[in-house]
Amino acid sequence: MTTGSQGNQLPWVEKYRPKTLADVVGNAATVDRLRVIEENGNCPHLLLSGLPGIGKTTSVHCLAHALLGDAYKEAVLELNASDDRGIDVVRNKIKAFAQKKVSLPPGRHKIIILDEADSMTPGAQQALRRTMELYAKTTRFAFACNQSNKIIEPLQSRCAILRFGRLRDEEVLQRLVEISKQEGVQYSDEGLAAVVFTADGDLRQAVNNLQSTWTGLGFVSPDNVFVVCDQPHPIIVRTMLEACAKGDIDTALEKLDEVWNTGYSSVDIVTTLFRVTRTLDSLAEPVKLDFIKEIGWTHMRVLEGVGTLLQLSGLLSRLARTAIDPKLVTYT
Ligand SMILES: Nc1ncnc2c1ncn2[C@@H]1O[C@H](COP(=O)(O)OP(=O)(O)OP(=O)(O)O)[C@@H](O)[C@H]1O
Ligand SMILES: [Mg+2]
Repeated sequence: MTTGSQGNQLPWVEKYRPKTLADVVGNAATVDRLRVIEENGNCPHLLLSGLPGIGKTTSVHCLAHALLGDAYKEAVLELNASDDRGIDVVRNKIKAFAQKKVSLPPGRHKIIILDEADSMTPGAQQALRRTMELYAKTTRFAFACNQSNKIIEPLQSRCAILRFGRLRDEEVLQRLVEISKQEGVQYSDEGLAAVVFTADGDLRQAVNNLQSTWTGLGFVSPDNVFVVCDQPHPIIVRTMLEACAKGDIDTALEKLDEVWNTGYSSVDIVTTLFRVTRTLDSLAEPVKLDFIKEIGWTHMRVLEGVGTLLQLSGLLSRLARTAIDPKLVTYT
């Protein structure tokens, strides 16, 4: 068996981090807005928000590189969740940087990148309000965060808000194919589809899963991917759902036992059930919607703490009943 030999090199997520906005995959409308800013050079305060691993940090760095060129090192201050960003830092470090004189290309501004800004305390965010205005002539702020509702309203209203959405499966796949070609990864098409499935729109996770499977097992096939990523195998979960759709509860429960006895938690199982249902073409649309609704309720109960086998068995019986006669189910 040949295995990948990239042990001592950069992880692929870093090696293939886009250097320019043109290389950023997906979210075309949002990236286009950044490109317009790159072209006219006048960067507003920015707030980039969206799920993990979809290119927020990358895009803001690409933009800063394009705007500032060689001055990047001197004219960009990056503070992320690993730095202390309490009120003192805002008062001292950020203000000192904003006041610092740096020679820049004409019409450009210094940029302060506050990554993972949703983890800043509201106090520290408050302290930024006036600072942002006072130094706006020379310094622009770029915030990146997962949850924009954790950013206080006054900061949001000072920023151009750019939302990044989950990447589409085709986009993730295309990137994986490119990386696989460059790294000489041996894969089957189903293997890459499995990586896309495990990542659920998160490109960083997809690239990591691809690298782990290739370096660990030497071939990217669905079975290897699910072993490495340690997720319930969607084929078993699909059989479970298809059995429910036929009203065959015995087979469904048998499969559930099989997955449960492998040691997966109820959250793993319920999330896989949801993701498989979403892509299950054999289900008629109304049945699919009913299934998703039921799975959603169960997900909620599991997150509230009742993640027993009985809970999941109950879900499957309700699914089987919905499939036979949708009117029998009442949602409580
Ligand atoms: N849109 C994308 N185009 C190309 N590569 C991407 C994209 N999104 C993520 N990646 C890959 O995933 C890695 C992480 O991306 P990035 O740091 O931009 O994520 P993020 O959106 O800031 O996530 P987080 O919210 O966790 O900080 C990058 O190094 C790159 O390899
Ligand atoms: Mg980030």
